[in-house]
Amino acid sequence: MQTDPSQLPNSLEARDRRALVHGLTNLAQHLTVGPKIIESGQGVWVTDNEGKTYIEGMSGLWCISLGYGQERLITACEQQMRKLAYYHLTNHKAHPAAIELADKLLAIAPVPMSHVWFANSGSESADCAARLCWYYWNAVGKPQKRKFLSHDKAYHGNTVASASLTGTAYAHDGFNLPLDGFLHVATPHYIAAAKSGESEQQFVGRLLADLETRILDEGPETIAAFFTEPVMAAGGVIVPPQGYFAGVQKIMKKYDILLVVDEVVTAFGRTGEMFGTTRMALMPDMIITAKGLTSAYIPMSALLLNARVFDAMVDYSDMLGIFGLTLTYSGHPVAAAVASEAIAIYEDLSLADRTKTLEPVLLDGLRQRLASHPNVGDIRGVGLLAGVQLVARRDPFTPFDPAARFGAKIATFAEANGLIVRAIGDTIAICPPLVITEAEIGLLIERLSCAIELATAELSTC
Ligand SMILES: Cc1ncc(COP(=O)(O)O)c(C=O)c1O
Repeated sequence: MQTDPSQLPNSLEARDRRALVHGLTNLAQHLTVGPKIIESGQGVWVTDNEGKTYIEGMSGLWCISLGYGQERLITACEQQMRKLAYYHLTNHKAHPAAIELADKLLAIAPVPMSHVWFANSGSESADCAARLCWYYWNAVGKPQKRKFLSHDKAYHGNTVASASLTGTAYAHDGFNLPLDGFLHVATPHYIAAAKSGESEQQFVGRLLADLETRILDEGPETIAAFFTEPVMAAGGVIVPPQGYFAGVQKIMKKYDILLVVDEVVTAFGRTGEMFGTTRMALMPDMIITAKGLTSAYIPMSALLLNARVFDAMVDYSDMLGIFGLTLTYSGHPVAAAVASEAIAIYEDLSLADRTKTLEPVLLDGLRQRLASHPNVGDIRGVGLLAGVQLVARRDPFTPFDPAARFGAKIATFAEANGLIVRAIGDTIAICPPLVITEAEIGLLIERLSCAIELATAELSTC
């Protein structure tokens, strides 16, 4: 049924509904409810168009790590716009802002990396990583290595290839995705997927055995790369169990499969290390970064490539006569200047170390307040990235009926209570700006607990 915007039930104008046609809500619902209009921000706080303030407990979309109103970023942007508002990195051109940023990224990379390829979003960089995997295997004479592995529930973006890597139905249904050859393997989520009586170690052993069987069934000579996030953020803040990544890496090495680590959420201090790669002891061939790279002040992403991949690409492009992968805004000087300044701020404020110190304030704080609640099934996370999973029953682990949209109810109560969080099914995701204070973390926990109480009280009266 068509909704007439002029008949909508609140004061928002029809144009507010047209501003988005955007994911994770449904369009009919969007036309009826309309978006919340956020007008300004300072630190970890945002204010809507009715003057109500909220703690931005999700850093927007896991991205504004340095919070709002960072004058150094604003100045870097303005100065670069005045000096050189635009130049590109195509046809033997470059500019100091991109060169300086590439040097810096390679200097702080968690494992030795050789070159950086810039784009404007995490999705573009994931797309490009997939293309460069193909390019690499063609370069070394193994063109049959074309398939990709990633996790069910992984989120790697929403362009054609990155949405194919993404392991959620909402990115595929109705869009003729995933493309052929994009294969998904089990989510390493012990509490949700372990068999009855299975220890964490046995669970890891089962997943690794299944992974190896899948590779053998597909033919190892057909698999180009495995894509993984260090912590699966949009999949529900899933922290893979001890031993899982070590096992995955052993298998990748055995069958000569590239490892691409998607650090779009986890890079730049989020996990208590500058890179989640370090926190989870990964040894990738490529690393994708975005979001925190510029603290979302301006779009930019960066894909880091190791020498194994890059050196092969050089010879191959020589043979082809051209390296045909460029974007108009790749390495945009204004974005590059903001990114370099953002990295300087992460370093000057020791934000990775500070995050490590705040990890127990957030996670233990959530546990103290919520662990005994009968509908809280799990509280997990690393650094300043946490998930609180709500369940109908804790033992045995029994999720709510998804149709009840219980997580969404909690997010709505939280919002009414001045806290923005994200419901991923029945997991409440928390990812505040890294500049959050201990007092603000306390307030965040209070407001979330209150929302959970209100939602569960509604349950008991139904
Ligand atoms: C892990 C991960 N990879 C890739 C992306 C895609 O990034 P973008 O939305 O900038 O295209 C996201 C976005 O949330 C993400 O969380």
